[in-house]
Amino acid sequence: MSKPAKPAKPVTAAKSAKAAKAAVVAKAAPAAAKETVTLTDNSTGRSWDYKLVDGTVGPKVIDIRSLYADTGMFTFDPAFTSTASCESKITYIDGDAGVLLYRGYPIEDLVERCDFLEVCYLLLNGELPTPDEKKKFVYDIMHHSMVHEQLSTFYRGFRRDAHPMAVMCGVVGGLAAFYHDSTDITDAHQRVVATYRLIAKMPTIAAWAYKYSVGQPFIYPRNQMDFAQNLLHMMFATPCEPYEVSPVLSKAMDRILTLHADHEQNASTSTVRLAGSSDANPFACIAAGIASLWGPAHGGANEAVLKMLGEIGDPKNIPAFIKRVKDKKAKLMGFGHRVYKNFDPRAKVMARTCQEVLDDLGRHNDPVLALAVELERIALSDQYFIERKLYPNVDFYSGIIFRAMGIPVSMFTPVFAVARTVGWVAQWNEMISDPAKRIGRPRQLYTGATPRKMGPIRRQR
Ligand code: CMC
Repeated sequence: MSKPAKPAKPVTAAKSAKAAKAAVVAKAAPAAAKETVTLTDNSTGRSWDYKLVDGTVGPKVIDIRSLYADTGMFTFDPAFTSTASCESKITYIDGDAGVLLYRGYPIEDLVERCDFLEVCYLLLNGELPTPDEKKKFVYDIMHHSMVHEQLSTFYRGFRRDAHPMAVMCGVVGGLAAFYHDSTDITDAHQRVVATYRLIAKMPTIAAWAYKYSVGQPFIYPRNQMDFAQNLLHMMFATPCEPYEVSPVLSKAMDRILTLHADHEQNASTSTVRLAGSSDANPFACIAAGIASLWGPAHGGANEAVLKMLGEIGDPKNIPAFIKRVKDKKAKLMGFGHRVYKNFDPRAKVMARTCQEVLDDLGRHNDPVLALAVELERIALSDQYFIERKLYPNVDFYSGIIFRAMGIPVSMFTPVFAVARTVGWVAQWNEMISDPAKRIGRPRQLYTGATPRKMGPIRRQR
């Protein structure tokens, strides 16, 4: 079992919450009894029954939707450590067992047997495509990969040294101002068009953010290339000479895209859902997801891993760094996960892919890579990490592999955004097509000033 999550600021909460004046205990009904949980307010003795709902796999959930109406109390769950914010059929994670399923299929199988666009089709539609469905889907995606030419002028408004994720937040949000024929979210066809546009244009937008930062001309997408090849081509080709995309690197990139395609209700996906719950423009919702992904606790971790390795500098400095981590003065980036308290299954595949890429490139002697391997070895045998069930996550290896592939550090998170776009739009579509959808509106535990009268306004202190 994983360690229970720490409650955030429980003392303040307990002091000030009206709800907390009543000690409330929840206990599950005994086996064979009805499938409910009884909540008892010990200060009044009143009890309420709440239905237990089964998913197809995973823990039961307590349906507390009528809790406030019944009891006048809210639940308090900052950072959503115990709250299912939605019902979904797309992705399942068992964090204790290290399992990740897209539409029921294990990630390890999908990586071995499907390409990224097949996985996109699966996430969007619930089933893998037939050969005809695949052909049409690939055609449709590849024929939406160009962006409106006027959008290319947006880039010039940014400083050349802007982070590509900053540029992506702006440019993807800007799509909302261009594609008016795919923004009626009540029209299922328009939602499909917006979905295809987002998946197809994201590699172009990301690659151009990089090209702009290095002052090179934009490279246009090539419809005859596959998705991963196209991304590498738009990032690394120049108009001056032919550019051959290495098959090993494009296969590795395709796998990396699949591994990052969806991850159920993570921070950026929840952001997309919350933004979209107000019926907001789909392109703007995905820009919100990109903003959330950028953070170093989420998709920005792959970049942070490389920064950390740079700061450690040499294997001899690892013990001192680990001590700083244990003293809570630093974080071991690329380690730990809110859900996985076991090996991240994506990290296992990533580690294998990393070996293949390093073999192909003959880069086993890279000192930064050697440092990462040694850091991982030391951390995995240290009690601090063992006790807290902190294992390498996908970002520990993706940083290493991206570096070996020659992808600049600032582009690590944009590549993650390219991959995650399908997850965001699949989850957004699932939410919008649910007739029971309501605007997302969390409540709060207010701990500020109680009502008070205004005295004379003090203009100076
Ligand atoms: N380095 C050192 N200590 C850690 C780390 C870490 N990377 N992660 C967690 N801990 C400690 C934490 O200090 C706490 O210790 P204690 O019990 O003594 O207070 C304990 O482990 C439990 O951690 P937590 O803060 O309750 O974990 P969380 O679920 O709130 O945070 C996390 C999850 C991913 C934000 C965190 O592990 C982290 O910041 N990791 C580094 C950033 C990273 O690699 N992020 C990428 C996640 S995978 C990609 C993605 O899906 O976005």
